[in-house]
Amino acid sequence: MYPELQKELDTFVKRTPKSAEAHKKNLKRIPLGVASNYRAYEPYPIFVKEGQASHFRDLDGNDYIDHNLCFGALMAGHCHPAVMKAVEKRLTTGTMFGMPHDMEWELAEEICNRFPVEMVRFGNSGTEVTMHAVRMARAFTGRDKILKFEGAYHGLHDNALVSVKPHAPDFGDINAPTAVSAGLGVPKATLDNVLIATFNDLETVERRFHQHTGEIAAIILEPILMNVGVCMPQPGFLEGLREIATRNGALLIFDEVKTGAKLGWGGASEYFGVTPDMICLAKSIGGGLPLAAFGTHKSVMDLISQHKVFHGGTYNTNPVSMAAGLATFREVLTRENYAHVEKLSKKLSDGYREIIAKTGLQAYIVSAGANGALMLYASEIRNYRDWLTIDTDLWRHYWFGMVNRGVMAQPYWWDEQWTISVQHTEKDIDQHIAAFADVAPALAKAQQERSAAVVS
Ligand SMILES: Cc1ncc(COP(=O)(O)O)c(C=O)c1O
Repeated sequence: MYPELQKELDTFVKRTPKSAEAHKKNLKRIPLGVASNYRAYEPYPIFVKEGQASHFRDLDGNDYIDHNLCFGALMAGHCHPAVMKAVEKRLTTGTMFGMPHDMEWELAEEICNRFPVEMVRFGNSGTEVTMHAVRMARAFTGRDKILKFEGAYHGLHDNALVSVKPHAPDFGDINAPTAVSAGLGVPKATLDNVLIATFNDLETVERRFHQHTGEIAAIILEPILMNVGVCMPQPGFLEGLREIATRNGALLIFDEVKTGAKLGWGGASEYFGVTPDMICLAKSIGGGLPLAAFGTHKSVMDLISQHKVFHGGTYNTNPVSMAAGLATFREVLTRENYAHVEKLSKKLSDGYREIIAKTGLQAYIVSAGANGALMLYASEIRNYRDWLTIDTDLWRHYWFGMVNRGVMAQPYWWDEQWTISVQHTEKDIDQHIAAFADVAPALAKAQQERSAAVVS
């Protein structure tokens, strides 16, 4: 560890003793001391006390501008007034029935008006809906295999936990990546049914369809790979996938758990002008409550209607989440709010770019809708293996440096990105840029020294 990073870590520890203490307590009863592995990091995670609009406070009373926003699930920002009002109203009229109600068609209508799907089923998490989408595709095509991209994350079911963060030499040749289990407990048979291709490389996709003619049910992807910072699809990539899927009788599934609400009004299909066969939505569509959905053509959903594919769930369409979802679609994810976020995004990106140019930091800024990231690379990354080349100590220097200055620039881990909520303000963005201006010179210096050390 180099001295400037150590200094930031020391400051972090001094500022957050109550988080350290709380984490120690958690460790006794909860593995890693956290409820989701993604929340664990060294020396310990910040424990949160409360949030409001674009800010949150930790147990020690430190205030942060929040661009973590629950891993991108809060494009609404904390306690959005419209969402809170809708939720409060529902809390007094019954929270669970396990019976149909009239908010279901209302929200299904909202989704079908906005995204290119004809019918919708609801769930509670991204994991749940990508799992159902994959099963639907298998049922519709009568095929067992699916194709996913190396480094892509689609949740925690067996089929998704393949080649999420594989390492050399396990991951094999980039032209035909090996399917690697993301942990113990994934059956070997699953690995045989999940074929891996390289993001932004259509040839690796063609190769899989050639090797497994008539066997692949679907291509599932995030239209922007957002499990490696922000990795944009190169021109023609999504169009190419659309064509390959159609030509081979496979379905194209857009996992829009992140992009659906945060990219723009109509999600990735509108943003990129490419129409998938199925979409999966979660995170920011719930405005802060657990809500997810998958949507597709009527012909695919007919399998559910005909009782050929089973879909259910006790918590599906619980009225509190549905009320939050309706308020989110109607009063949060509006064209005006997207314009506001777009303006802030430009201001933030421009601010970062100026500082990068001034300090000579080797990095670039990428942004799309409410999402963006400081990418600590000399040139644009195109796939997971490019992403792996990051200097993780340098990234930690950036993240802790920003946190110590009251800005949670993104969730911890260099595979994430920032989110700008509809409640962020110009002032928040000014403070964010000022914090980066303070951190960047030491970051640039450390980067130069570290690359000089590598060369010598
Ligand atoms: C693209 C994508 N798909 C699926 C998921 C899983 O969603 P959840 O955590 O709600 O199960 C995530 C979560 O980060 C995601 O980013």
